Amino acid sequence: GETQKIAIIGSGSWGTALARIAALNAAEKKGFNPEVRMWVREREIPGEGLLTEIINSTHQHSRYLPDVTLPHNLKAVSDLAEVAKDATLLVLVVPHQFLPPVLDKLSKPGVLAPNARAISAIKGVEVKGDQIYTYPHIIEEKLGIPCSALGGANIALEVANSEFCETTIGVPSPEDAALWHAVFDSPAFRVHPIEDVAGVSLSGALKNVVAMAAGFVDGMGLGGNTKAAILRIGLIEMASFTKEFFPSSSSLTFSHHSAGVADLITTSFGGRNRKCAEAFVKTGKSFAQLEHELLKGQKLQGVATADEIFHFLEARGRLEGYPLFEKVYRISFEGMDPKCLFENL
Ligand code: NAD
Ligand code: 13P
Repeated sequence: GETQKIAIIGSGSWGTALARIAALNAAEKKGFNPEVRMWVREREIPGEGLLTEIINSTHQHSRYLPDVTLPHNLKAVSDLAEVAKDATLLVLVVPHQFLPPVLDKLSKPGVLAPNARAISAIKGVEVKGDQIYTYPHIIEEKLGIPCSALGGANIALEVANSEFCETTIGVPSPEDAALWHAVFDSPAFRVHPIEDVAGVSLSGALKNVVAMAAGFVDGMGLGGNTKAAILRIGLIEMASFTKEFFPSSSSLTFSHHSAGVADLITTSFGGRNRKCAEAFVKTGKSFAQLEHELLKGQKLQGVATADEIFHFLEARGRLEGYPLFEKVYRISFEGMDPKCLFENL
């Protein structure tokens, strides 16, 4: 078949970790152009120079992945159109709030190759009134190309350090499954394709809301029994929500796959949403302040998702079906006492 050219759109901690794996595979496997480009939002690092030049000369993106060496065939590029040029495989991995301007640029005539396809590693949803959309759906509509979803128990730094883990790809066709499997599968990053694109994407968004509840539990100084109860109840709400509003998706995505239960577990112990939610209870500071103080430029996704899911459920008159999602919103946005988390669960 044709030679595939990979472009990574995003260069935060997860974008850079996925770029590293894709570039290692592109250098080694047949059928790939070895040069993998990664879109970097250009900035001047005081005393050091331009971020793209630093990444390309040191082969590190030390702000997000300290001590991780990047393959030399991975090239940081600041111009989005240049990153996308001739790319047949686009990996979309920007924090969800920054996607709209990226899609505007990519959808301009002549920017994308006609045979391009995409995968979203973004964890979030878009809500408009009583409508909810997954990112693969939004990307397909806006770019007119097929879009898959990637999600799993994947804390970026652990993946970048080649600690064994698994991920799930939701793919619309067997051809896409084979292609994306070839891009990402490696001995320490096992890729399992399934058909449920919406389920993989939604699970990645909804688990961030449950991870905030897990952080509230930690912030209140409660133990493993309580956290396990919150994770169980949260997993049921995640699966019920998906069944109710995306009926063609599969409950197995939540119970059997890395994108479901495994991602929920790792995020609720080692993730950024958990960490900031714990500090929210302990310090009383705002999430914006805590993101700034604790994450060093990385971005929280769960706070915005809790807000979006709450307003969607309210617009549908369905809040009573999802008491955990509702409480996470009320604690985060309305000053509800975190101890109320357990009422009516
Ligand atoms: P990150 O949280 O490390 O965020 C930093 C990125 O945001 C940088 O590339 C920065 O340039 C960019 N950014 C900051 N302000 C911006 C702006 N105004 N406009 C455009 N870009 C801006 O990023 P990440 O962890 O790579 O997250 C991307 C997606 O991947 C998220 O949806 C996240 O939930 C998901 N994800 C993350 C992990 C992880 O462990 N980090 C794992 C799986 C999935
Ligand atoms: P956090 O954004 O909470 O760190 O979660 C990362 C993640 O999605 C792990 O799979």
